[in-house]
Amino acid sequence: MKIAIIGTGYVGTVTGTCLAELGHEVVCSDVDANRIEKLTRGEVPFYENGLEPLLRTNVEEGRLRFTADNKEAVKDAEIVFLCIGTPPLPNGKPDMKPLEKAIFDISPALNNYTLIVEKSTLPIRTGEWLEQKIREGVQPDVEFEIAAVPQFLREGKAITDFMKPDRIVIGANHQRAIDLLVQIYQPLNAPILITDINSAELIKHASNAFLAMKISFINSIAQICEKTGADINQVAKGIGLDRRISAEYLNAGIGYGGIFFPKDIASLVNIADQYSINLDLLKSVDTINRYQRLRFVEKIEHAIGGATEGKKIGLWGLAYRPHTDDMRDAPSLNIIRSLQNRGVKVKAYDPLAMEATRNILPHLEYCNDVYEAATGVDAIVIMTEWEEFQRINFRRLKEATDCRLIIDGRNIYQPQRMANLGFKYISIGRVTPKVEAAAETEKPQSGKGKPKAAKPLETV
Ligand SMILES: NC(=O)c1ccc[n+]([C@@H]2O[C@H](COP(=O)([O-])OP(=O)(O)OC[C@H]3O[C@@H](n4cnc5c(N)ncnc54)[C@H](O)[C@@H]3O)[C@@H](O)[C@H]2O)c1
Repeated sequence: MKIAIIGTGYVGTVTGTCLAELGHEVVCSDVDANRIEKLTRGEVPFYENGLEPLLRTNVEEGRLRFTADNKEAVKDAEIVFLCIGTPPLPNGKPDMKPLEKAIFDISPALNNYTLIVEKSTLPIRTGEWLEQKIREGVQPDVEFEIAAVPQFLREGKAITDFMKPDRIVIGANHQRAIDLLVQIYQPLNAPILITDINSAELIKHASNAFLAMKISFINSIAQICEKTGADINQVAKGIGLDRRISAEYLNAGIGYGGIFFPKDIASLVNIADQYSINLDLLKSVDTINRYQRLRFVEKIEHAIGGATEGKKIGLWGLAYRPHTDDMRDAPSLNIIRSLQNRGVKVKAYDPLAMEATRNILPHLEYCNDVYEAATGVDAIVIMTEWEEFQRINFRRLKEATDCRLIIDGRNIYQPQRMANLGFKYISIGRVTPKVEAAAETEKPQSGKGKPKAAKPLETV
């Protein structure tokens, strides 16, 4: 099928590449000519696990190409996927101007029946708005339809999430649109839910809001654990084993990051306000999440002895989740700025996100590895649950630094093990065990001598 993708951010580039991989003829367009130049050379302008090689293969095999001209992209397309960014305005509504501009470009260029699909996360009833806007620009004899197929992808796992989704939601009001989309998505062998457009739009917002709610919920319960001596990891496991609840997104920590949960919650709250519906529940989810970052700063401050001026910390991890360099609304940014405002010096290491962070925080000391980030500091602070941190060589760490204080915002280690190794280990919602006087140095584990990787923790 001939497909056009409008917008080559995370969603557009992943969607275009994966659809080309499924055998379709795909043209992707963007107003950002630099981005298009890079993509045409086979370079992805952001990091996404496995995306660049897949994109290159599809470009080389002639199924995928890029253009800076929206009109050119859509002129022969049977389906157009709208993957444009929808950043939030101060009132919580998404900014629809970039989308409106794209619609203005593409409508006159449609020359045959075309299905226009919302892939961006758009407020409920955008389908009706889109139909009206396109009708204003399209030639009178050209047929078109609107559909919504929300994208449920996590940065860092985007290709797997696209190719092996839990479900596909197809929001369409007419059979012709449903048939086309089923034809596209059937090869993924996932359950397909067909809904009307309004429901599909709402499903995406409600899903993100629900996941965010789970995270804020478990972080609230973690506070009770800290006051009472219960262990949040055990509590979360006990809750998550209930299939009605599931263990996913029940990891206590420094809260969710990235722009999408806050943006989608704000948009949902805005819609609720329009209809005088009380959504205080979701307002609290966001407040709890913001507060979690502040609480973590206070935890660090307390752990390093209260007087922060002139103290130094080494940060492990900058991005809001592993395997991404997306620093938009990463908790680390607030936390670093708050620490710096308290006179703390910060050095940091992240396997992927240092270049992106340098553009935002040029004056941070950036390190080559975890060991360098741990030297000469008063505390090591973990911000991202990278597997690399979970597999750390503690013998080498102890040789590299005198620091024996680790404050973990992602609960990646077992507290008792850390105490046995001689570290004061402060985590979220768990007791900090006493460090043994004669702490052991970790012995290589039996067999192959390599510590087994801990199971990666799931966050947003
Ligand atoms: N990134 C994610 O993890 C994710 C997951 C699911 C859904 N979404 C949703 O998908 C949408 C896109 O997200 P993203 O992360 O890909 O955004 P992004 O900001 O990475 O990319 C958006 C792209 O759209 C381009 N663009 C803007 N105006 C344009 C126009 N008029 N014509 C052509 N291109 C234009 C921009 O130049 C940019 O490259 C958002 O609504 C987002 O909420 C994102």
